[in-house]
Amino acid sequence: MNVLRFSDLVQQGRIEGRRVFIRADLNVPQDDAGNITEDTRIRASIPCIEMALAAGAAVMVTSHLGRPSEGEFKPEDSLAPVAQRLGELLGREVPLRRDWTEGVDVAPGELVLLENCRLNKGEKKNDEALARRMAALCDVFVHDAFGTAHRAEASTYGIAQFAPVACAGPLLAAEIDAITKALQNPKRPLVAIVAGSKVSSKLSILKSLAANVDQLIVGGGIANTFMLAAGLPIGKSLAEPDLADEAKTIIDMMQGRGAAVPIPGDAVVAKEFSATAPARTVAAADVQADDLILDIGPRTAAELAAIIAKAGTVVWNGPMGVFEYDAFAGGTRALAEAIARSDAFSIAGGGDTLAAIAKYGIEADIGYISTGGGAFLEVLEGKTLPAFDILQRRAAA
Ligand code: 3PG
Repeated sequence: MNVLRFSDLVQQGRIEGRRVFIRADLNVPQDDAGNITEDTRIRASIPCIEMALAAGAAVMVTSHLGRPSEGEFKPEDSLAPVAQRLGELLGREVPLRRDWTEGVDVAPGELVLLENCRLNKGEKKNDEALARRMAALCDVFVHDAFGTAHRAEASTYGIAQFAPVACAGPLLAAEIDAITKALQNPKRPLVAIVAGSKVSSKLSILKSLAANVDQLIVGGGIANTFMLAAGLPIGKSLAEPDLADEAKTIIDMMQGRGAAVPIPGDAVVAKEFSATAPARTVAAADVQADDLILDIGPRTAAELAAIIAKAGTVVWNGPMGVFEYDAFAGGTRALAEAIARSDAFSIAGGGDTLAAIAKYGIEADIGYISTGGGAFLEVLEGKTLPAFDILQRRAAA
């Protein structure tokens, strides 16, 4: 992907003394008291900020936090806890500027955090006047917010149109590189794992991957709908019977090109959805009318692990079963461990997937862990995200 990279500008000595505006994704989860419960995105944003400071820039950083109402400041929407955490990680004070669109006082070597950009009127709708005001604050705009790369907002798209220079930060560039390696130029066999509750929410992803991957492993409620399409009983499990035909089309499409959707041959079932419900392992054909499938069975897990062991590339989104409950965690755990053991280049993304990776402690064994939620899913769908679209246009101009 041909975009200008911030690291190249730094190397070329084009950043010293410049006003650099970094759009980061510091949208982190918080508890009711506003404490940050998980800071991966803040940590992932540090290299860009440090790169800009080391290059002698005057550095402005902003992000959205949640989905506040524009023009209505409420303390719970403030980036103040993020400023605090950022300061701890950087080992320096990070001042937070409240009303910043008309001008920001910042000198080379300094860093300021600009309050939640979604509080600015016109942010969500990518208002041109707002985007132009933001662009006028800087010499160089750096998009480093992969988690927001699927949004065309004033601080992610409009500013990139109007800033004197617009480029990709190291996090955005790393995401581009990992995704390109996994999907556009993969070492084969390319195995995708797509799991989750509903086929409908991931139908376009499944269709897009079905045209590219060698094995499409399905899990969770999605696997139940595929089992239905394959003529297997699923009892009262979560599924979308009206999408069984779509699932069948995907199975046929894959078979037609010598690829496959492995259908679970066994399952772990219970009579109710609870952590304490007695679990039984049954052959897929023996699922009873009042059973709920809550995980793939050990035979299926072993077969899928064998597929992963031979893979050249693995793309992973979604757990295989209800891994939050120990009795139904075996499938997700087996696949996580198989990915960790495999020599394949692996890329994983999505909230539940990241939770599974953390639960099984395999972070270091995944080739690339994406910071994107919705953005990662849209990439799997084969869409060109607005962030990449505008940065490519700017690079070509
Ligand atoms: C995310 O959490 O996925 C990103 O920060 C994007 O947030 P949004 O869905 O509110 O745009």
